[in-house]
Amino acid sequence: IKHRGCYFATKLITPEGIDSLEEFEIRDSDVFLATYPKSGTVWTQNILSLIFYEGHRNGTEDIVIMDRVPWLEYNVNNLDLANLSSPRLFFTHLPYYLVPRGLRNRRGKVIYVARNPKDVMVSYFYFSKFMIALETIPDLNTLMERFLSGKGKVSFSDKSSWLDHVRGWYTHREDFNILFLTFEEMKKDLRSAVLKICNFLGKRLSEKELDSVVEQATFENMKRDPRANYEFLPDTLVEKSKGQFLRKGTVGDWKKIMTVAQSERFDMALKEEMKDLPFNCLWDR
Ligand code: A3P
Repeated sequence: IKHRGCYFATKLITPEGIDSLEEFEIRDSDVFLATYPKSGTVWTQNILSLIFYEGHRNGTEDIVIMDRVPWLEYNVNNLDLANLSSPRLFFTHLPYYLVPRGLRNRRGKVIYVARNPKDVMVSYFYFSKFMIALETIPDLNTLMERFLSGKGKVSFSDKSSWLDHVRGWYTHREDFNILFLTFEEMKKDLRSAVLKICNFLGKRLSEKELDSVVEQATFENMKRDPRANYEFLPDTLVEKSKGQFLRKGTVGDWKKIMTVAQSERFDMALKEEMKDLPFNCLWDR
């Protein structure tokens, strides 16, 4: 469905459901992770859960991250979100203007993670092949035109464009208590990124605890971890023979897949538009 400028690729949500989220009551202790899909959501979800749950950090609890850091707009496991104990952790792919009003009044905290849009698009391309709810996209050119033009059915985009999602959250940053991170900086120095998150959230971890978070949040370890690798998703949602959530986890995979012409077309459409945003690092490699 398309609702208020945002495309939702699943029947799990209704227009009324989306509208009702605006009234969802926010507590000061709430933490929201906001991303455009394929930007490192699962990764950051896991980091947040490792920071907050000592049992998880020590490997003594078996709760999957979807239940530790539930999805605000698709309540996949039917949790009673309003009555979870504090501090509550959530993630969302919504554009800034559809999230609970309380968040926009600087209650709670938001962590926004952005990623190089070429890598986002390539990741989405593979993702669409195994996520049943998403239309399989025949080739990269088709996806690229949709991704860039804002006219396509690329899930969760604000007016269907990645740029509007990132720009929307950034230009309205004053409305939120928000920290911006990039996939690239997390990849480059995970420990610093985790520390940044801890400082923002006012969580103090010992060196040992920090080591444990960083260790468990590496791509290889997450892929092995049944609580974190999203293999718990049912066969009704994903066709497991066609891919996986934790695919490659690298920076610059687009270079292996996009042609020079495609990359130039991308630069032309986005680079100028991104000039006023502080995400130059997204284009560095
Ligand atoms: P690739 O498809 O490029 O491998 P999201 O969680 O927002 O859907 O993003 C998925 C992307 O994040 C995938 O990218 C996935 O591999 C990557 N990812 C997940 N966990 C990661 C980790 N611990 N380190 C690096 N990348 C990770």
